[in-house]
Amino acid sequence: MSHSVVVLPGDGIGPEVTAEAVRVLESVDGQLNLKLEFSEGLIGGAALDATGEPLPSSTIDLCKKADAILLGAVGGSKWDHLPAGPEAGLLGLRKALGLYANLRPVKTLPELVNASPLKADRLDGVDIMVVRELTGGIYFGKRKLSSTYAYDTCEYTAEEIKRICRMAGNLAMARRRKVTSVDKHNVLDTSRLWRKTAIKLFQDEFPEIELEHIYVDAAAMHLLNRPKDFDVLVTENMFGDILTDEASMLAGSLGLLPSASLSDGGPCLYEPIHGSAPDIAGRDSANPTGAILSSAMLLRHSLDLPNAATAIEAAIAATYAAGLRTPDLGAMENGENVGTKAFGEAVLTHLKL
Ligand code: NAD
Ligand code: IPM
Ligand code: MN
Repeated sequence: MSHSVVVLPGDGIGPEVTAEAVRVLESVDGQLNLKLEFSEGLIGGAALDATGEPLPSSTIDLCKKADAILLGAVGGSKWDHLPAGPEAGLLGLRKALGLYANLRPVKTLPELVNASPLKADRLDGVDIMVVRELTGGIYFGKRKLSSTYAYDTCEYTAEEIKRICRMAGNLAMARRRKVTSVDKHNVLDTSRLWRKTAIKLFQDEFPEIELEHIYVDAAAMHLLNRPKDFDVLVTENMFGDILTDEASMLAGSLGLLPSASLSDGGPCLYEPIHGSAPDIAGRDSANPTGAILSSAMLLRHSLDLPNAATAIEAAIAATYAAGLRTPDLGAMENGENVGTKAFGEAVLTHLKL
């Protein structure tokens, strides 16, 4: 049986990092004979330039028929003046595919402890699964913009909160059985509904799980002060967006974190959490780790190949253990930093299935 993988490289460093992730998938395919069939689609600024739309209907059709989707990044100043720019393409795709659960694992590799701006004693053993709600909240609420007035509204239904909390609960059951729900219950009505719904859901369906609640402002602080205390962290769309860029510093760079955007049943999407990084695009210096680890999540969640996923994660760790670093992780003590392609090449040499 073959598996169709749609690749959406997007903009900026998107094509550079997805190229390395595809090379890794091709190598896994070559060794395990998975019969992966790759096709490429347009999204974001690249799609705007080619078709006038950030999410052409041909891309949605292609993705709906796929077994899995691998995306690079979208965005850039060239398109910032547009009311529906590259980012609208990505948001539209998440909505069109019902990708409500965005899993963003944050781990500190022992080899990279010194790359983080935090002190090493805080980082040893950090292993957090952030579960970000991805198709609701202020990103998708009623909005308006005029020259003198604007608003965005945050809306959630109890059902939307329940299904994302259930996802967090199921993940926590296979981990350390602790869930931290992050909200702004002291101010926002959506957070009041969030907390009430979370408490009931965990009481009814996951009585074994320890559930704690933290306000988002305090969570931003606790993530830096006591990151090892977190197991699964579940939160709404915008809080999850912001907290995971912060959490990437626990790992050492924004370029390190992967994500999986899951739906109930349909094709799922895998992308690094970073953006198109216009400041370094086209220089072969982007870190492809987040994209490569996203391809590992693709194998685990969409193709049910946990061993292949683990092999990719081990190859990344081995590459760092061998001393290779892209420039975002700081200057290397002995020798030169490596570029995107050389890093990807090294991952291939360490890949043992
Ligand atoms: P960004 O994530 O693109 O970059 C932030 C900083 O991190 C930059 O200094 C960049 O060089 C660095 N960085 C990011 N990824 C890196 C990598 N793989 N290797 C090395 N360094 C890396 O965020 P930004 O600058 O705020 O936004 C730039 C554009 O990207 C905007 O148009 C934004 O809308 C878009 N964006 C897209 C996504 C996405 O497609 N999922 C996510 C975030 C931002
Ligand atoms: C991300 C990005 C996107 C988001 C943007 C580009 C729409 O920041 O995937 O984290 O805010 O979700
Ligand atoms: Mn983001």
